[in-house]
Amino acid sequence: MYTGLQHAHSGLAYLVLAALAIIMIIALIGALSGKVFTEKHRKIALIGFILSHVQLLVGLILYFVSPIGFSLLTGGGAMGDRVARLTALEHPVINIIAIVVITIGYSKAKKMTDSKARFRAIYMAYGIGLVLILSRIPWSSWLG
Ligand code: HEM
Repeated sequence: MYTGLQHAHSGLAYLVLAALAIIMIIALIGALSGKVFTEKHRKIALIGFILSHVQLLVGLILYFVSPIGFSLLTGGGAMGDRVARLTALEHPVINIIAIVVITIGYSKAKKMTDSKARFRAIYMAYGIGLVLILSRIPWSSWLG
């Protein structure tokens, strides 16, 4: 189960990062070119919303199964070690905050009526979410 979750979380990460970046660019272009925010744009934003929530769910389960997640936090020593602190604390906390920001942006865009404001809500939230996620990826274990 651990290996399966690890692979799922690692593979989904590519999709989440690519989706957030592409959606952010589409929303930015939409705002700058004065396009009308249509149902098609909402559905594109929904893809990023769903992918990040699936990743959140997989990440939460992984956190309690992985030897470098919650068990490291409770086992002690994680706070003093930079690498351990990343997967046991910083990566989960920052990513949960990022997904909350994405959720707020999507919900705001869904409720608003002004097209420019809707595009802005998406590119701001997805952009901030993306930067937060990128700031706390365990790069060396992922791509190293
Ligand atoms: C969009 C959000 C997230 C992204 C893009 C993401 C991405 C990643 C990546 C790329 C890795 C390294 C995988 C590898 O070494 O093969 C990783 C590891 C990990 N992530 Fe996430 N993650 C996200 C959210 C979360 C959340 C919310 C949690 C927990 C609440 C979490 C818990 C973990 C744990 C425990 C590991 C270490 C797994 C292990 O190798 O044992 N992640 N994540």
